[in-house]
Amino acid sequence: MNPIPNAKIASSQFKANPFPFYARLRSEAPVYRTILPDKRNAWLITRYQDVLAILKDERVGKDKINAQTPPWLPATFKPLLRNMLDLDPPDHTRLRGLVQKVFMPRLIGNLRQRVQDLADDLLDRVQARGRMDLIHDYALQIPATIIAEMLGVPVKDRLKFHRWSNAAITSTSSRWGVVMALPHAVAFLRYIRMLVKARRANPEDDLVTALVRAEEAGDRLSEDELLAMIFLLLVAGHETTVNLIGNGTMALLENPDQSDRLCADPAMIQSAIEELLRYNGPLETATERYPREDVVVAGITIPRGELVLAVLASANRDERQFEHADRLDLSREPNPHLAFGYGVHYCLGASLARLEGQIAIATLLRRMPHLRLAVPPNRLRWRRGLVLRGLEALPVEFSR
Ligand code: HEM
Repeated sequence: MNPIPNAKIASSQFKANPFPFYARLRSEAPVYRTILPDKRNAWLITRYQDVLAILKDERVGKDKINAQTPPWLPATFKPLLRNMLDLDPPDHTRLRGLVQKVFMPRLIGNLRQRVQDLADDLLDRVQARGRMDLIHDYALQIPATIIAEMLGVPVKDRLKFHRWSNAAITSTSSRWGVVMALPHAVAFLRYIRMLVKARRANPEDDLVTALVRAEEAGDRLSEDELLAMIFLLLVAGHETTVNLIGNGTMALLENPDQSDRLCADPAMIQSAIEELLRYNGPLETATERYPREDVVVAGITIPRGELVLAVLASANRDERQFEHADRLDLSREPNPHLAFGYGVHYCLGASLARLEGQIAIATLLRRMPHLRLAVPPNRLRWRRGLVLRGLEALPVEFSR
């Protein structure tokens, strides 16, 4: 057997089609030690059952204190690390408990009409042009606007915070990458601090005000945790769903038989979105995890403190779990994909993301049934970075 070459898994070229590499790992080296761009070693877990086991394993935590080689971070970033996704219970449980209610399916359902109006309004603006960049004109605007409205961030600032979060996400975690992202992180933090100050002085009916009140009430939320919470919700609330709409549309353009099925039967939209999440999901890997003790996965010992990456995109294409895993089948049932993760960090915004994805894709197909790519597929560029997988731009054409 040939040795497996070390793929540059955070590069734009790799992101274009990571699936053959992961298929090879699943078959030959399902627990695979690789070197990341910042020279840290990482273990890639690629089979469905192993990914599930890692995400459920209480011995495998998030706290970087357990890491043997923690990523280098300047002091400016430190407050942002007090967010629920970077913490283990009991801090994780306390922080998640503060916002969980707002993201429950029943309350999220109330946003349906707002999301629909927004989707229609965005398409009204481009309809006469006959072409658009689906990412910037549509896919990004929907989640960025909705999460800004929920939090109480002025909607006119949504592209500003996207610029800052984009710099953080696409930078490598090397020293140089971190230094390059620093001014954006500083600007982002300054912005969140100003927002908090404004809501302290003039409370409104929004999530930032509710969080400021929790912080003022004493022991439930520290100042750093307040800033980190707003940061996480803003970033996670839009940087992921943009890829569900973008990657999902891309998959439909590549599979016209499936897109025709959905056009003919719009009631399929729920199972269609689950399948698009599985087939071409927004996160390639889960976020970093560090075992608190040695753990054995598929017969391989991962030493305490080494970085583990559960590759969700690979688990979701594992032929041991999904029949014809490389085939897009919008009526796939059951579909226990791991696009939203699993265990205590299971995506808090899953109901919101599903609502936005369903409305965005259904509205796009209804209003622009003859959508087509406006550039050859090999001209499309994928955003670099480790965790997320999404397009920089998706130029499309349609009838005016
Ligand atoms: C299609 C869109 C989305 C996908 C695929 C997605 C996926 C994920 C995944 C895989 C995780 C777990 C990461 C890990 O375990 O390392 C996660 C966590 C999280 N997501 Fe999402 N997400 C999406 C949309 C959203 C939205 C709209 C929000 C809204 C605020 C959100 C907020 C969060 C939060 C706060 C966490 C951390 C939960 C915790 O640590 O307990 N996500 N998401």
